Amino acid sequence: MRISTRAQRIEPFYVMEVAKAAGALAREVAHTDRPMIFLNIGEPDFTAPPLVQEAAARAVRAGATQYTQATGLDHLRERISGWYRQRFNVDVPARRIVVTAGASAALQLACLALIESGDEILMPDPSYPCNRHFVSAADGKAVLVPTTAEERFQLTADKVEAAWSDKTRGVLLASPSNPTGTSIAPDELRRIHEVVSKRGGITLIDEIYLGLSYDDAFAQTALAIDDNVISINSFSKYFNMTGWRLGWLVVPEALVPVVERLAQNLFICASTVSQYAALACFEEESIAEYERRRAEFKARRDWFIPQLDALGLRVPVMPDGAFYAWADCTSFAEKLGISGSWDFAFETMKRAHVAVTPGRDFGTAETAKFVRFSTASSMAHLQEAIERLRAMAAMAGTRAQ
Ligand SMILES: Cc1ncc(COP(=O)(O)O)c(C=O)c1O
Repeated sequence: MRISTRAQRIEPFYVMEVAKAAGALAREVAHTDRPMIFLNIGEPDFTAPPLVQEAAARAVRAGATQYTQATGLDHLRERISGWYRQRFNVDVPARRIVVTAGASAALQLACLALIESGDEILMPDPSYPCNRHFVSAADGKAVLVPTTAEERFQLTADKVEAAWSDKTRGVLLASPSNPTGTSIAPDELRRIHEVVSKRGGITLIDEIYLGLSYDDAFAQTALAIDDNVISINSFSKYFNMTGWRLGWLVVPEALVPVVERLAQNLFICASTVSQYAALACFEEESIAEYERRRAEFKARRDWFIPQLDALGLRVPVMPDGAFYAWADCTSFAEKLGISGSWDFAFETMKRAHVAVTPGRDFGTAETAKFVRFSTASSMAHLQEAIERLRAMAAMAGTRAQ
């Protein structure tokens, strides 16, 4: 069977290979005193809070399970708009919000609405792998621009200007980022948007981790800049609803009918039950719970990152959001007599029963040096993982002597 070149362009998701291997080994060691600790997982270890679960059950019982309009329940769009007002002090009218099947569908819709065949989109290296594949699926080309720790692993206005070519259509950023958990400083973001706008380009920003920000200097939505910024968001991370497949897209008003037409045809609508459930996310009780969980994520970060540094797994930039640590494993790997983050990931999995994600999927610049740890795991698991890594390093040291 002939496979489309579009499908062939989509690279394999190597993370899944590691996850598969970790899953297989986890079954073998499940009943030992060292079961697998999964620090490779990019989703919260919390589930939707009680009011959200009850709202879903109520919707099912009431038979509120037909399609909704393609842009989502008006009431939910209003609630999301209210969240921007309350939390970020930004006025985002509900009519500019399109509810989608996760950020993934939002990214797909934005790319299909705006990218012509051959258009190039600049994004940072490292960045979330699927984002470049959304561009590719729309027949565009993701151009990865290497970034440094000094730049918080984000694009700068200067770099965007330097990388801009006749084919460039815009930028796709993520702030806070996966895999680094670092954000773009608001002033820099403004400058990037200025550079892009002057060239008639588009600024797409994936703000899926924005709710999980720990530093006021960064915890601002790009939507505060102007109405032309396109923001992608989700109920997956801050709202702990990964499998419910619900997110949203904020677009300039003129783009709403275009995105609506695409959404009607490609998805019909996002899950109705999830939409009714999500209404309860914005109740005071739910927000209080989400804020408790955000504090827990921050406490894990505050404990875990210095521990990694002390082990020689240097995290060059303290993450200001999300639940990741992007650590340079070069010197630790050398101690183990191996090189590169791919082998490091397999060694920690085999020897310490700690699963982590090698940098490979996230780009090409320095990703062979870096691994991504996820702190979306309990403090007890994080502590045990550090103990095992410490023991592994000590054993390697003894062997080397
Ligand atoms: C940066 C980023 N964007 C988008 C997504 C997709 O999220 P969703 O579950 O909302 O489709 C993820 C998921 O991990 C992510 O990390």
